[in-house]
Amino acid sequence: NQLAETARTFARGDFAARADVRSHSEIGELAETYNRMSDQIQDHIKRLHAAAQENQELFLGTIKALAAAIDEKDPYTRGHSDRVSRFSVLIAKELRLGPREVRNVEIGSLLHDVGKIGIDDRILRKPSVLTEEEYRYMKQHPEKGASMLAPIKNMKEINPAVKHHHERWDGRGYPSGLKADEIPLIARIVNVADTFDAMTTNRPYQKSMSYEKAVARLKELSGTAYDPKLVEVVATLHRRGELKD
Ligand SMILES: [Fe+2]
Repeated sequence: NQLAETARTFARGDFAARADVRSHSEIGELAETYNRMSDQIQDHIKRLHAAAQENQELFLGTIKALAAAIDEKDPYTRGHSDRVSRFSVLIAKELRLGPREVRNVEIGSLLHDVGKIGIDDRILRKPSVLTEEEYRYMKQHPEKGASMLAPIKNMKEINPAVKHHHERWDGRGYPSGLKADEIPLIARIVNVADTFDAMTTNRPYQKSMSYEKAVARLKELSGTAYDPKLVEVVATLHRRGELKD
């Protein structure tokens, strides 16, 4: 009968299923109660969605605040995390990654330098070239960052962006010396975006390049420092004028 059929539909997960039984009998009353129950469940689902949405926004807000704190540590890189994040998301979308992966890229790019919180300001802000020893110390920031995030279970997919954003395509990067496809894609994306922003903003010992020049520089180092496919993507985005704000 109709009520039983509706109940089966409902049980399969279609919570909008409604029984249409017009009768004053007990069955009719049952159908009405049943419909009220469905409405309640629908309402709960709506509220759950809203709560999840709010949670997501709070989470991203917290990540952005943390990214701003990282940028604040290093006065030369103000706004760096935001720009790296914007570039990274553009690259991820151009690669047609799914929404979850794009989101991971967004969070990973915002947090990539979180390990700098554990680096001494005197070295982070040193206006001259670092000594070899200081450089070796500075190079610990990806692993420091990865250990900071390690206890957070939900950061598992993000962590490779933090740990491996200074690897090079040819295997001569750090900390692990991973090569080509061994480097997680999320880390390769952040690496190219990070470098592109470093090239196009003023730094203590380097004046900023134009986007045009930076793309040319990326192309020179394509296949040695950077993933050739990603260099191509950056070049395409630049050609279309999508890298500018
Ligand atoms: Fe870094």
